[in-house]
Amino acid sequence: MTTSAWDERAEAYRVSATHATGVDLDLLVDFCEPGPGKDALDVATGGGHVARRLREAGCRVTTCDPSPGMQADVLCWAEDMPFADGSFDAVANRFAAHHFSDVHVAVAEMARVSRGPVVVVDMNYADEAVERAELLRDPGHVKTYSEAEWREIFAAAGLTVADFRLVPRGYPLEDWLARTGCVGEEAAAVRRELAHVTDAEGVWHGDVVVIKGVKR
Ligand SMILES: C[S@@+](CC[C@H](N)C(=O)[O-])C[C@H]1O[C@@H](n2cnc3c(N)ncnc32)[C@H](O)[C@@H]1O
Repeated sequence: MTTSAWDERAEAYRVSATHATGVDLDLLVDFCEPGPGKDALDVATGGGHVARRLREAGCRVTTCDPSPGMQADVLCWAEDMPFADGSFDAVANRFAAHHFSDVHVAVAEMARVSRGPVVVVDMNYADEAVERAELLRDPGHVKTYSEAEWREIFAAAGLTVADFRLVPRGYPLEDWLARTGCVGEEAAAVRRELAHVTDAEGVWHGDVVVIKGVKR
């Protein structure tokens, strides 16, 4: 596995309006039960938007990401994190699980290092056309998961699902393509695959999963 593609895109994620805001981000912060003196971990921090919001809510936040360009506190993969068991009051992860090579191992790692909630936000599985579009736009895409799959992944990690929400979101298609440098024939193919979920303003729509797990 390599992070060079992520290193090149780091600035695009730091300034991305899609990542900086959203009902899913508000819910994630709420589900983390933040507060002064609490220690939180932001896994796959990317442009750091989750970390910023958790800090604003009073937490001490540690960030981790395997891409040096993302400038996280700790360089590591979600599947293998160098933190002791129960190190954090809350562990959060947003818009990254669909890139994980082994999501079961990653969520088990998040459960291991948390002594409180584990909160994951990611795109909900829609259909195979959307999956093909995701992969064309970014060869680092592995898979998005349905509600049933998320519940199984959390259960396998020893987590009880305390809350599960589906939040509708829209992604301006051209900005979304530009973030990963997807142009030409590939971008045209992505537009075709997403035509059934794209509106007249060029925004494509899909649900976002917000899931809170607590240790059994
Ligand atoms: C879309 S960005 C994350 C966005 C950020 N969490 C937010 O909400 O703004 C995806 C991040 O996942 C990271 N990533 C990719 N594969 C990973 C893995 N296996 N473990 C941890 N992080 C990974 C990338 O380096 C990248 O920074």
